[in-house]
Amino acid sequence: MRSASTCLTALVLGSALFLAGCERPPPAADQIGYRGTSMGSVTNPRTLEMREAANQPPEAQPAADPTGPRASTIYQNVKVLGDLSEGEFIRLMASMTEWLAPPDQSCAYCHNVENMADESKYQFRVARQMLIMTRSLNTDWKSHVGETGVTCYTCHRGNPQPQATFKLDPGPRGAGGFTASRQGQNFAARAVGSTSLPNDPFTQLLSYAGEIRVNTPTALAAGNPRTIQDAELTYSLMIHMSEGLGVNCTFCHNSQNFGAWNGPPQRATAFHGIRMVRDINTRHVQPLAAILPPERLGPEGDNAKVFCTTCHQAQPKPMGGAPMLRDYPELGAPRPAP
Ligand code: HEC
Ligand code: HEC
Ligand code: HEC
Ligand code: HEC
Repeated sequence: MRSASTCLTALVLGSALFLAGCERPPPAADQIGYRGTSMGSVTNPRTLEMREAANQPPEAQPAADPTGPRASTIYQNVKVLGDLSEGEFIRLMASMTEWLAPPDQSCAYCHNVENMADESKYQFRVARQMLIMTRSLNTDWKSHVGETGVTCYTCHRGNPQPQATFKLDPGPRGAGGFTASRQGQNFAARAVGSTSLPNDPFTQLLSYAGEIRVNTPTALAAGNPRTIQDAELTYSLMIHMSEGLGVNCTFCHNSQNFGAWNGPPQRATAFHGIRMVRDINTRHVQPLAAILPPERLGPEGDNAKVFCTTCHQAQPKPMGGAPMLRDYPELGAPRPAP
């Protein structure tokens, strides 16, 4: 009898533990597709509120006077922001400090304050590359960031290093023999929603232009260019994209046909986002490994790189779509002097 009730208690406690991962009801379900397509989007209103509160951008500095001589003629070593007025230039420096420099270091985080034109600090040289990148995101990648745009804060969120990034990760080793290498899968990897799918779809699909495909374009098995590995990497990336944006698969797909392009328009935005992230990583971020100090590099010798979560932080639009470019036109295309 005792043992039966102990068993029952264990069962109740066990299931309580098991269910602890579930969210408190009731969730909300919105119909986002045509009637009859069952394209529901399931969200938890409380989680959404918490995310909104945690993702507020800092208040923008008051706009600066755009008139007067250009920074290129005032300072000695300005290679990116030469088109700004003095007021705009100093406003942006102050904002960059607020967005990512440790408060006790302020301007000295990037500058040798004895000589502001000195390039000796690696932070200065990295920041210059970041300025080039941010301007390119706001001009060359409007197909993704639209008029909303991005600033340093979109990724850095007050930190010298963005917190949500990836490095090459071969994962833990197995027991030995043929299980010694797990090929980066078959353990509950956090990066891909605690599934046993490959834990690093990012290197192949967000640094290199690997194929994001499952469906075969041919009717016969012979000649099918899609491999099981393609499918596993694709699903890993899709789980990251869903978690990174805090959305269900139906935000981008009509689940009746995952390969189709006639579903929600967000799929096309995401398509451009994938290409944008590859451009960020290959052109701007990976080359930083040569400038960054060794403690920034991972066990495989690479530095931290960008994926969807870096900007989105579990929201469909970073910081709820706060208009970053409107408040910081200095980070858009160079403008002619007024
Ligand atoms: C995150 C790094 C970073 C921080 C923090 C920073 N700067 Fe800069 N600063 C730069 C970069 C990069 C340049 C060069 C910009 C270019 O090439 O267009 C620059 C250039 C300058 C220049 C021009 C120097 C010259 O003579 O060529 C001045 C002046 C300046 N910054 C002032 C400041 C002030 C004041 C602060 C603090 C409020 C500050 N900066 C904070 C990165 C930074
Ligand atoms: C798309 C995301 C993104 C944006 C936008 C961005 N950064 Fe970065 N930044 C990164 C990543 C990724 C790293 C590498 C971090 C690492 O290696 O740990 C980095 C590193 C840096 C570092 C070196 C930090 C260190 O101590 O190692 C500086 C300085 C920096 N960024 C400045 C800026 C400035 C200034 C801007 C805006 C003009 C900016 N970043 C915009 C993603 C971004
Ligand atoms: C933010 C938008 C977005 C979300 C969320 C998303 N996907 Fe995708 N999915 C895409 C895009 C874009 C592609 C095509 C990628 C490309 O061509 O580069 C794609 C491709 C796919 C493919 C390959 C189809 C083919 O042609 O073979 C499958 C399967 C898939 N997704 C399944 C899923 C599943 C399952 C989920 C939820 C776990 C999901 N997706 C969530 C945007 C999304
Ligand atoms: C450099 C920052 C940045 C990165 C990295 C990024 N995005 Fe975005 N994304 C944005 C911005 C900004 C918007 C808002 C655009 C707008 O308002 O038109 C956005 C919007 C979207 C939207 C449309 C949302 C809606 O409500 O219509 C989708 C879908 C999306 N991103 C998917 C992705 C995916 C998938 C990835 C990773 C492959 C990604 N993004 C990486 C900045 C980023």
